[in-house]
Amino acid sequence: MTSQAIGVFDSGIGGLSILKALRAELPHENFVYVADSGHAPYGEREDCFVVARSRAITRHLLTQQHVKVKALVIACNTATAAAIHLLREEHPNLPIIGVEPALKPATLLSRTRRIGVMATRGTLASARFKRLRDSLAGQAEFVLQPCDGLADAIERGIDDKADPGSATEILAACAHHTRAMGPFGLNEGEIDTLVLGCTHYPFASEHLRALLGPHVQFLDTGAPVARQTRLRLPAAEPQTVAPAAPGMGQVKLFTTGQTNTLQAAVQHWLQLDSTVDSLHF
Ligand code: DGL
Repeated sequence: MTSQAIGVFDSGIGGLSILKALRAELPHENFVYVADSGHAPYGEREDCFVVARSRAITRHLLTQQHVKVKALVIACNTATAAAIHLLREEHPNLPIIGVEPALKPATLLSRTRRIGVMATRGTLASARFKRLRDSLAGQAEFVLQPCDGLADAIERGIDDKADPGSATEILAACAHHTRAMGPFGLNEGEIDTLVLGCTHYPFASEHLRALLGPHVQFLDTGAPVARQTRLRLPAAEPQTVAPAAPGMGQVKLFTTGQTNTLQAAVQHWLQLDSTVDSLHF
């Protein structure tokens, strides 16, 4: 029998921050998650590479045996910026939901009107990001920081036993990038709001909190993307509105990298014991 599921993908484990919010919002839904860890990070690659990977993963998700993918969540800012318009053109009947840095909510929250944006080089250089930023011109000052190396450090950091230096590496990358952005705080001229514009970065938020103190607000996109996904589910499908315990739906996991890395990440961040299948493409 064919079951239905929502497809979700990222360059690696970062999209689990979105999957976590999706499961909380849509507890009865089944999910199929692809971590492209064998090809991560995307953020410092050419657009054409990210587009090719996004197409290949979408194809894989749409040709699952016994599973009909009824909606696709691109749980990656970099892939959304490079590929969402093409994927929508190529799959006009599939609801495709992307993620983008939470600049707009940040302008509503910031008091100092100085907002830090941590994202990948690819996201910040994209036409999509430029349009978003231009649409908010004059509302706040955005301090943009391309965080080379941070997603990669987080990607490797989940398996602490294999790489005991990784937590230090994540902290060092966070310290380097936040230092480059200038002073944080609640006073005039300081950054009081930090947009985590890459789905990997919420997994470094403890390090960022330790560096920046308790007052700076962090914004990620998990919850709004999950709400948007609920709204975009095909009308004919029974939508999940029941107040059910999280975790009732099934989660199927694939990776192009090490299966034990994704398994450890899912266990750590989602408290979920699921097997992971390898993908080779
Ligand atoms: N998690 C991805 C994002 O939201 C990309 C990280 C990377 O692969 O560089 O942008």
